[in-house]
Amino acid sequence: MKSFIFTLIFVLITSPSGFSRDTNNDDACARISTGYEQSNRDPEFSANYSDVKACFEAFPYDREIAENTIETIKKTLQGFFVYLSQAKEEPKQGYSFRSVDLIKELDSLLLKNYTSEFQFMLNVNNLIAELKDPHLRFIPLCYQKFIYSQQLSLYSVINKEGVQIIKIFDDEIDSNNVDCEVTHIDGRPSMEVIKEFAEERIDVSKDSGVRFNDALASLRINEIGDRIISARMFTLRNVLPEKSSIEYSLLCANDINTTFTREWKIGSVYYDRFNTTDDFRNAFCLKNEIIDESVNVSKMFEPKIYNKPMVECEL
Ligand SMILES: *[C@@H]1O[C@H](CO)[C@@H](O)[C@H](O)[C@H]1NC(C)=O
Ligand SMILES: *[C@@H]1O[C@H](CO)[C@@H](O)[C@H](O)[C@H]1NC(C)=O
Ligand SMILES: *[C@@H]1O[C@H](CO)[C@@H](O)[C@H](O)[C@H]1NC(C)=O
Ligand SMILES: *[C@@H]1O[C@H](CO)[C@@H](O)[C@H](O)[C@H]1NC(C)=O
Ligand SMILES: *[C@@H]1O[C@H](CO)[C@@H](O)[C@H](O)[C@H]1NC(C)=O
Repeated sequence: MKSFIFTLIFVLITSPSGFSRDTNNDDACARISTGYEQSNRDPEFSANYSDVKACFEAFPYDREIAENTIETIKKTLQGFFVYLSQAKEEPKQGYSFRSVDLIKELDSLLLKNYTSEFQFMLNVNNLIAELKDPHLRFIPLCYQKFIYSQQLSLYSVINKEGVQIIKIFDDEIDSNNVDCEVTHIDGRPSMEVIKEFAEERIDVSKDSGVRFNDALASLRINEIGDRIISARMFTLRNVLPEKSSIEYSLLCANDINTTFTREWKIGSVYYDRFNTTDDFRNAFCLKNEIIDESVNVSKMFEPKIYNKPMVECEL
């Protein structure tokens, strides 16, 4: 079967207006830019979570933009997307997703009020992701200019008691955490949290097992035989996480329990491409052209080589 990725990349084309701020202090996007300059354009620079959120939320919800967006998506889908009617069917055995009448539900997104354009775009993004169809993506480019890392990755094994658990695979900040069991995330059993995240936020497959794996660490071999490890979707994201940090409760060797809170490290290859909210809007939301990446690319984008020997552990 001929397969293609159908990606809706969304760039707003409208006239900029009304996003000026009097001083840097009131302008969250400007605070990000100032912070980056003050760090001497440090490739390790991480923006403050509240600033990124406020920067995104600085663009008010505009009903006309929303209507045009929905109309454009509907027309595009009705013209080109061959799985619209399949999305309405119940999942076949082995698959899990909600059956969605996408055209109808896109319309009902317009019945709600949103506090910002970002909130609206996030809702469109989440609805389209519910199809769990990797042929179809909606990427509001404006709001995907940063990546968010917990600087750790997770894996899952069956322990000696036959129970499936979550463990820390790698931790860039504290190597003592490696191989500790993660019993709780934000105070809830870790398996429950990861499964829920994989169901609700990962759209890579209609198979929930594939989605679960995509939340955890991934290992691959590159062209020259290095083993490259990457954190995946639970701890490395491209959509703004709901909160500024995650709390992990660990059970380590010798029955030692620890709990720590990890802020998101926020990287970008675009930190030097805007100074103010207006710039941000102009460069990332309004201009319909490719934006050069910065020379000082965030270290977060570099592949990490995993040199430890592979051992059979608790499998
Ligand atoms: C890159 O970052 C270093 C600091 O890590 C800084 O000294 C240098 O000026 C930066 N280069 C550019 C082109 O911004
Ligand atoms: C981010 O900025 C807010 C408000 O300026 C501040 O309260 C918070 O402590 C900052 N967070 C970090 C991680 O620096
Ligand atoms: C949306 O907000 C407008 C103006 O604040 C209000 O008149 C309208 O009733 C709200 N609609 C919904 C569905 O909440
Ligand atoms: C450590 O955490 C585990 C799992 O939550 C719990 O069963 C155990 O009682 C805790 N041990 C201590 C010493 O707090
Ligand atoms: C941001 O400010 C710097 C220094 O004033 C300037 O060189 C650069 O062109 C500005 N960037 C944008 C996108 O306006």
